[in-house]
Amino acid sequence: MRMYDIIQKKRDGGELSEAEIRWFIEKYVQGEIPDYQVAALCMAIYFRGMNVEETAALTFAVRDSGDCLDFSEIHGLRVDKHSTGGVGDKTSLVVTPIVASLGVKVAKMSGRGLGHTGGTIDKLEAIPGFRIDLPVDEFKEIVNRVGIAIVGQNAELAPADKLLYALRDVTATVDSLPLIVSSIMGKKLAADDDCIVLDVKTGSGSFMKTLEKSRELAERMVAIGKRAGKRMRALITDMDIPLGFAIGNSLEVVEAVETLKGNGPADLTELCIALAAHILNLAEKGDYETCEKLAKRAIADGSGLRTFADMVEAQGGDKNWILHPENFPTAKFSYSVKAKESGYITHVDTESYGVASLLLGAGRNTKEDVIDPTAGIYLRAKTGDFVNEGDEIAVLYSEKQSGFAAAAEKLLAATEICKEAPEKQPLILDIVE
Ligand code: URA
Repeated sequence: MRMYDIIQKKRDGGELSEAEIRWFIEKYVQGEIPDYQVAALCMAIYFRGMNVEETAALTFAVRDSGDCLDFSEIHGLRVDKHSTGGVGDKTSLVVTPIVASLGVKVAKMSGRGLGHTGGTIDKLEAIPGFRIDLPVDEFKEIVNRVGIAIVGQNAELAPADKLLYALRDVTATVDSLPLIVSSIMGKKLAADDDCIVLDVKTGSGSFMKTLEKSRELAERMVAIGKRAGKRMRALITDMDIPLGFAIGNSLEVVEAVETLKGNGPADLTELCIALAAHILNLAEKGDYETCEKLAKRAIADGSGLRTFADMVEAQGGDKNWILHPENFPTAKFSYSVKAKESGYITHVDTESYGVASLLLGAGRNTKEDVIDPTAGIYLRAKTGDFVNEGDEIAVLYSEKQSGFAAAAEKLLAATEICKEAPEKQPLILDIVE
C-alpha cells in the first residue's frame, strides 16, 4: 500500500477500506509516514468526510494503535466523561470528583487544548507538581484508593490519537466529524470504562456550529461506543456562550474549585450538576432526580472538593492550592477591555474568545509552544447582560504584554451589542441515548 494512493482516493471522494485505514494508522505510529502526508489525508477527510463504516474503522484503528487498558483490578463500575471541546469548559474538573465522591470510579484519560478550545490536561498542569503521566499500576492504585485519577495520553494508549491530535491542532483539521469521533472514541475505548457520558457542544465556540451537526456527532459516538459494549449517553449543550467567566488554565482551575465549593457561576454549576447526575444515573445510582440530589449534596457538603484535593495530592500536586485557590499566582500583566457602546450583549463569537486566549498564551499555535498557565480572560459581562459604554467587559491576563492589543481587538469584534435584550437559550439542548 502507498500513502499517496490513500490520500488521492479520499481526495477524490472515495471510501477507504478498513485495511487501508488500519495500515496508515499503524505506519504513522511506527514513524514510517511523515506528518505532511497525514496532514494531507486529514485535510482530504475534512472536505470529503467519512461514512459510518469508515468512521468506525478509524475509531477502532486508533483504539488498537496501542495498549488497551485492563481495569479489572479497579473495584466497582468505572465511568468516564468527555467533552467535544469548548471555551471555558472546565466541567471535567468539577463533575468527575463529584461522582467519584459518590462511589463511582473515575479512571479518566484527558486531552490537551485543541484549536481554540482548552484541554483538561493543560488545566491540571497549572497545578504545580501535578503528574499527568502516571504508570498504569499507580493510576489504578489511585483510582482504587481515592476514587479518581486523570491522566494524559501516554505513548502506549491510543498513540495514534496523540499524534493526530497534535497535527490537527496546527493544520486547521480539527472540526471534522469523523476525526472528532475517532479521536474521542478511539481513546475512550482504549480505556476499560463501563459507562461514558459525552458532553457534545454546539454553537459558535464548538467544533460543530449547528445543532444538527452536533446531534450527528453525538449519535455517531453513542452508536460506536455501544458497538464496543459501553453504556453510553450524550448531552448536547450550548457553547454559543463561554461557560462560566474564566477562560485560561489556572483561571479555570480556580473557577472549578469555586464551583465545587458552591460558589460557581450559574451556567457552569447547572451543567456540572446535570452531567454528574447523568453519569450517576447511567452507573445505576438511582433515577435522575435522586442522582441530581446526590450531585448537589456533594457540592453542599464539600465531599466533591475534598475528593478533588485528594486526587491532586495523590498525583503529586499541592492539595493546599485546591483548598486555598488564592495560592494560584496571577499573571504579571493585565489589561481591561471596555465596551465601545451601551446596550445588551446579544451574541458573542465564542470561538474568537478562545482564539483571543491563545493570543495571550493560554494555548498553542504550534506543536512546540509552551503554555503560560496564568494567561487567559476573565469575563465581566456575558450574553444577555446590559453594559454601558466604557464598562469593563473582560480582563485579559498574560505574562507578556505583546498579545493584549490583538486579543482585545478580537474580543471586541466578537461581541455584538444591541439595544434589544436577546432571548435566553437553554443550556442543555438534547440528550442522545
Ligand atoms: N476532543 C478530542 O479528544 N478530540 C477531538 O478531536 C475533539 C475534542
